[in-house]
Amino acid sequence: MKNSKFNRYTITAALPYANGPLHIGHLAGCYIPSDIYVRYLRSLGKDVAFVCGSDEHGVAITLKAKKEGITPQEVVDRYHELMKKSFEDFGISFNHYSRTSSKIHHETAAGIFRNLYDKGEFLEQTTEQYYDEEAGQFLADRYIEGTCPKCGNENAYGDQCEKCGSSLSPTDLINPKSKLSGNTPILKETKHWFLDLAHYTDFLKNWILIEHEKDWKNNVLGQCRSWLEAGEGLQARSMTRDLDWGIPVPVEGAEGKVLYVWFDAPIGYISSTKEWAAEKGIDWEPYWKSKDTKLVHFIGKDNIVFHCITFPAILKTHGEFILPDNVPANEFLNLEGDKISTSRNWAVWLHEYLEEFPDKQDVLRYVLTANAPETKDNDFTWKDFQSRNNSELVAIFGNFVNRAVVLTHKFFDGKVPALGELNDLDREALQQIKDFPEKIAASIERYRFREALSIVMDFARTGNKYLAETEPWKTIKADKERTGTILNIALNIAANLAIVAEPFLPYTAAKIYGMFNMEGLVWKDAGNADLLVTGINVNPAALLFEKIEDNVVEAQVNKLLESKKQNELANAVAAPMKEIISYDDFAKLDMRVVKVLTAEPMPKSKKLLRLTVDTGLGNKTVLSGVAEHFKPEDLIGKQVVMLINLAPRKMMGVDSEGMILMAEDRDGSLKLLHPNTSTSNGSTIS
Ligand code: 2FM
Ligand code: ZN
Repeated sequence: MKNSKFNRYTITAALPYANGPLHIGHLAGCYIPSDIYVRYLRSLGKDVAFVCGSDEHGVAITLKAKKEGITPQEVVDRYHELMKKSFEDFGISFNHYSRTSSKIHHETAAGIFRNLYDKGEFLEQTTEQYYDEEAGQFLADRYIEGTCPKCGNENAYGDQCEKCGSSLSPTDLINPKSKLSGNTPILKETKHWFLDLAHYTDFLKNWILIEHEKDWKNNVLGQCRSWLEAGEGLQARSMTRDLDWGIPVPVEGAEGKVLYVWFDAPIGYISSTKEWAAEKGIDWEPYWKSKDTKLVHFIGKDNIVFHCITFPAILKTHGEFILPDNVPANEFLNLEGDKISTSRNWAVWLHEYLEEFPDKQDVLRYVLTANAPETKDNDFTWKDFQSRNNSELVAIFGNFVNRAVVLTHKFFDGKVPALGELNDLDREALQQIKDFPEKIAASIERYRFREALSIVMDFARTGNKYLAETEPWKTIKADKERTGTILNIALNIAANLAIVAEPFLPYTAAKIYGMFNMEGLVWKDAGNADLLVTGINVNPAALLFEKIEDNVVEAQVNKLLESKKQNELANAVAAPMKEIISYDDFAKLDMRVVKVLTAEPMPKSKKLLRLTVDTGLGNKTVLSGVAEHFKPEDLIGKQVVMLINLAPRKMMGVDSEGMILMAEDRDGSLKLLHPNTSTSNGSTIS
């Protein structure tokens, strides 16, 4: 980066849909990687605009509004604030977080559409689109679901299959169904404005597959290659929709139509930059129009086509804008072996995480980076979270910094001791101080944040190893000067570690900066062994990380399993109704309130309990198949409901004289039926 041709950096992170809270998949996908990159750039003193905002248009929003019975505006107002706060809480250091319902964004997106329209870039076509007759609405994008023609996923959307990443048109879907009514839609004519992507094939092939063959990630190149080199090539894509929520199409004859959300959303990066620059009183244009600006889009893999094909085609056609220098997309993060899902509530929500782990933002940042889905889908597990915290952050990083500071207080009154004569171990450690920052920087610059973080940890390990080999707690007995040399070097390793760890662990770095009074030190200072000058005060050791116990992570796993169960119950379908019976049939059933007097397991049976009950007409014996659901003491003394005139049945040599009635929940669990107040035994039920 030292001889970089760039003087300015525009770094974007995908605009999240404002239709739900943020979860760990969002952080791991693009917000932590982009934040690491930006913090590194800022530490180098670069001029950076790090922009994002809420994606407030599209069917994701209108569907949510419909589900909750509120307006789309109410949906986006609620989630915009929640998402903004979560980003702030996790230290995602955007220069500006905007929203696509803002006036400046509407104007910017409409302006760019109009620019392309005036250049004659759109194909104006009347085509047949799916229409839900019951809802009286065309079914754009996520209003329609069906089977993906490429991979067979039965829940592909009208615009995209999230399973295989294919970009689709509603008419590509097999067995399409309306999300509004569940009906099979009909085809109806409507006019739209299409971007003829085929027209850009040569430019895109050359720009992506040749110019960026070496510096873009393989997963991104692979997806681009499959679109650009697929048999049928790039298809024309409609940039407008028949919806009533979005940015009105700014041309005559387009009343009631809005811009396609994927036309306007990436333009949100530009609008956000404009808003930021206006607030700062600077010019936004160099950040999007100067050749010496490096534009990088951080996204998740489901956004690749829009950032590598559609948006660049729009920018290129417009003509004034620069193109991204890189699009380092991540793959997906799974959770405990299953796909993260908002609708199934299978997620770790950021606001809930912070309620349970306040001040542990860096632990999550660390785990999500150390296990980032950079080249393939990865899995987050609470066990891994615990083990990385305990055996890496606590045992390696925290332990090293703590020892250096505590020993300085113990032996040198908290003042940085002088550096004396050096031995080989010292010289080796000083060399490491010089080498590590460069290695870490090289990995960050190649968007290999996982690798960079593992080198940061190696640096901390080096510090621990140095202390273990030099043993200052022993040398102090005979040689204070030697001990001073060791601690001077250890403290300078810790100070350097804080600088290079800051992009990854900003809260922890701030604590170390505080301990060493080293405000103002940045990446260019790293690599020097004299950051902490002899004689300056070191503040007492602050707690950096603490052990996480088994019961804490077990509680998190149980919480997930419980929410999964609740969700399954809520979505499970009740058993179908049985055949209609006559009143006479019903009247034959003699159901009574009875009291369980005794209950005991039946020998040699896992399932049966033998009960004696008071029916009000005398005692009866019942064998009930509930031993796997209740213990005898759960039943004894309880009033329950029993069918007392069921013909006796011999089971395992015992006559069972009726049946205890119970509710069977959708998950198969059994619930007893009790009268709501104490009732005489033998009361009839009718
Ligand atoms: O996939 C998503 O969540 C989209 N809202 C991302 C938009 S990125 C950009 F184009 F704004
Ligand atoms: Zn698919």
